[in-house]
Amino acid sequence: MDKFRITGGRSLKGRISISGAKNSALPCMAAALLTAETVTLHNIPYVRDIITQRRLLEDIGATVLTPELRTHKISASHIELFEAPYELVKTMRASVLALGPLLARFGKAKVSLPGGCAIGTRPIDLHLAGFQQLGAEVKLEAGNVVARAPKDGRLRGADVHFEKSTVTGTENLMMAASLARGRTTLYNAAREPEIADLAELLNKMGARIRGAGTPTIQIEGVEALGGAEHTIIPDRIETGTFIVAAAITKSELEIKDCRPEHSATLIAKLREVGVEIKELNQSTLHVAGAGKLAGSDVTTEPHPGFPTDMQAQYMTLMTQAEGRAAVTETVFENRFMHTSELQRMGARIHIDGRTATVEGAARLTGAPVLASDLRASASLVLAGLVAEGETMIHRVYHIDRGYERIEAKLQSVGADIERIRDSVTASLSQTAEPDAG
Ligand code: UD1
Repeated sequence: MDKFRITGGRSLKGRISISGAKNSALPCMAAALLTAETVTLHNIPYVRDIITQRRLLEDIGATVLTPELRTHKISASHIELFEAPYELVKTMRASVLALGPLLARFGKAKVSLPGGCAIGTRPIDLHLAGFQQLGAEVKLEAGNVVARAPKDGRLRGADVHFEKSTVTGTENLMMAASLARGRTTLYNAAREPEIADLAELLNKMGARIRGAGTPTIQIEGVEALGGAEHTIIPDRIETGTFIVAAAITKSELEIKDCRPEHSATLIAKLREVGVEIKELNQSTLHVAGAGKLAGSDVTTEPHPGFPTDMQAQYMTLMTQAEGRAAVTETVFENRFMHTSELQRMGARIHIDGRTATVEGAARLTGAPVLASDLRASASLVLAGLVAEGETMIHRVYHIDRGYERIEAKLQSVGADIERIRDSVTASLSQTAEPDAG
């Protein structure tokens, strides 16, 4: 399995361009299953999860063409299978996003039930309860969820109240309801920017969705959807990760092709702890991590709160801040896997239930560490950039799931980071563990 070797202490300078949002590209690719016409998506990031999603689409009969590296033309005119098999769901939980579109368009769908993952138990009960409210019959058979539309083959609109904010749950229901008979209202819907992006694509395809990005989404079902062309929004988590890279190395970076308004809470928090962030224009940020950083508490929350996908990176930054910072994780259980690795590098972190208290500033020293999930891996890269000496990060396949060539982007601004490729046989077992991010 590939490793990263990082020699810390280098200051960074230059420009980094942000890729398209993986978490928007994944549902948008699934949305192509809702129509027999071609859906063209631009700004698709070149990351492993996208390759997995593409494989899922192709396995069930869709055709995916890539006339350019970041453009996917997806045609689901001849779907032969109506299921996402265990092999794919176990490597990537977001493959459950096939369920809503298949059920809505073909009246049936089977998806292997995702099991536990690196950051805790992650059920899909809220997706399933929603489908049932749209009239589907949902059964569990041999580890698979088997869903069927009512006899006439069409779901029917309904009021769906989510008990808890769920991003992919909201997306799955929004896609399913687009082809249902009548009106659906989703209450307590998740408000992440990726949901609004998916709704924009669906509306271009002919859906009638209002309120995406707010807690109440209204969907007037239509009989059929058509082709469309859409550009995926920039990745706000990649943006945040590079802002922290500048801050932690006390460097200056220009981060371009991003959408600062999608990272407003994070930017406000980082300014509060002492990072200078200027918005040069609507898509460019200038970050200067010159002065001293002050420890400050944070609690993760669904959007527009502080994102759980930035928790590990923020915690790493706090190891370099003066004073104490309590980092509370409320979205996922067991999302502190990076702390033990950070501790091995010299960080002082104490965990009590859902709160990790970081005592800064600590001198980090390079060490061999293990990446456990996508965002945890990013936090170890950040730690490596500031640590004294050499850090070797093992199992970087986790980071490849969601960051497009992170080492190349960091090298281009002066970081001393290199990928050490490993044997082909090891890469066969690479994506066996799903995680969030
Ligand atoms: C998405 C993101 C992931 C991010 C997460 C939270 C994608 C592909 N992934 O994951 O990067 O970390 O949002 O911002 O977009 N839950 C239930 N029952 C359900 C569904 C969820 O109990 O049916 C719980 C989860 O266990 C978790 C919480 O709700 O505790 C939020 O999960 P959810 O928003 O669904 O996360 P994902 O959509 O899987």
